[in-house]
This record gives sequence, C-alpha cells and structure tokens, in this order.
Amino acid sequence: MTEPALIHLIYCSTAAHEMSQAELLNLLQQSRRRNEQLKLTGMLLYGGGVFMQLLEGIPPAVDMVYQKISRDPRHHSLILLEREPISTRSFAGWSMGFHHLEAEAGQQLAGAFSLHEAKAGLEDKACHPSPALDILRQFARTQR
Ligand SMILES: Cc1cc2nc3c(=O)[nH]c(=O)nc-3n(C[C@H](O)[C@H](O)[C@H](O)COP(=O)(O)O)c2cc1C
Repeated sequence: MTEPALIHLIYCSTAAHEMSQAELLNLLQQSRRRNEQLKLTGMLLYGGGVFMQLLEGIPPAVDMVYQKISRDPRHHSLILLEREPISTRSFAGWSMGFHHLEAEAGQQLAGAFSLHEAKAGLEDKACHPSPALDILRQFARTQR
C-alpha cells in the first residue's frame, strides 16, 4: 500500500504574553494528545515571547489543526513560512518535540524570518531551501 501524501507546515507567531513553564506544559500535553490521534508529528520552539512550529502529516489533518492554532488566543500575528509536500517525516516519533530557547534566540529567530518573508517574493522561493526546517531539525538532533 502506498503511503498517503504528506505535507509539512511551518509558521512563527507572537505569544499573547510571556509563557510560564506551567502554561507551556499544558499547551504541550494538549497538543501531543491531539497530534497522536491525528498522526501529526513536529517540533515547537518557544523563546522570548515567540513561537515557531512545524507540523507534518496528511494535508487535511495538518490544515485542520493549523486552523485551530491560528484562532488560539495564546498567540497572534502568525506568519506562515511554508506549506509543502514532503516525501518523509523529519520528526517521526515526535507527537510534538519542544525546545525552550533563550529569549534572545527566540527574538532573533522571529526577526530573521519576518525579514526573510518580507524580502523573499514567491518567485525566488526556490533560492531559499527551507532555512526554517534546518533550524528545527537541529533541535531534534540535540534532543535524541
Ligand atoms: C503555539 C501553539 C501551538 C499549538 N500546537 C498544537 C498542536 O500541535 N496540536 C494541537 O492539537 N493543538 C495545538 N495547539 C492548541 C490549539 O490551538 C487548540 O487549542 C487545540 O487544538 C484544542 O482545540 P479544541 O478546543 O477544538 O479541543 C497549539 C496552540 C498554540 C498557541
């Protein structure tokens, strides 16, 4: 049987307020439970009031959860960085990996990506082979 088509989606956003450890834990538990049911995997980074998240799975599941996430009052100003077909998962086995960044690193990340988005027109997208994915993958490697 052939595997159903997979996509990944990457966005960054601004937290409504600085998240406490308890709030992050609550968010992760909620997300992991739901993602397991939907066979979604991925990675969440948080630091300095900034989130970056990658979700991977079948398109209807990824899009449905992203719709929910985008309406979540715990954050705002979402920037969709990528939504692309993938041949294999980068985060298989992770119902949602997590890495708590230093505040400064989180802000630098957000700054870099909003700048990247503002500058990069759709036509030169091919010249930017997923810097966001590279960063997220590095965090998965350090946690294995
Ligand atoms: C930064 C952030 C990341 C989130 N990631 C996920 C996720 O990966 N999976 C998920 O199901 N919900 C995630 N959520 C929570 C959803 O926004 C939503 O609260 C959840 O899907 C519950 O939906 P429900 O009220 O329909 O049960 C995230 C929320 C935030 C703020």
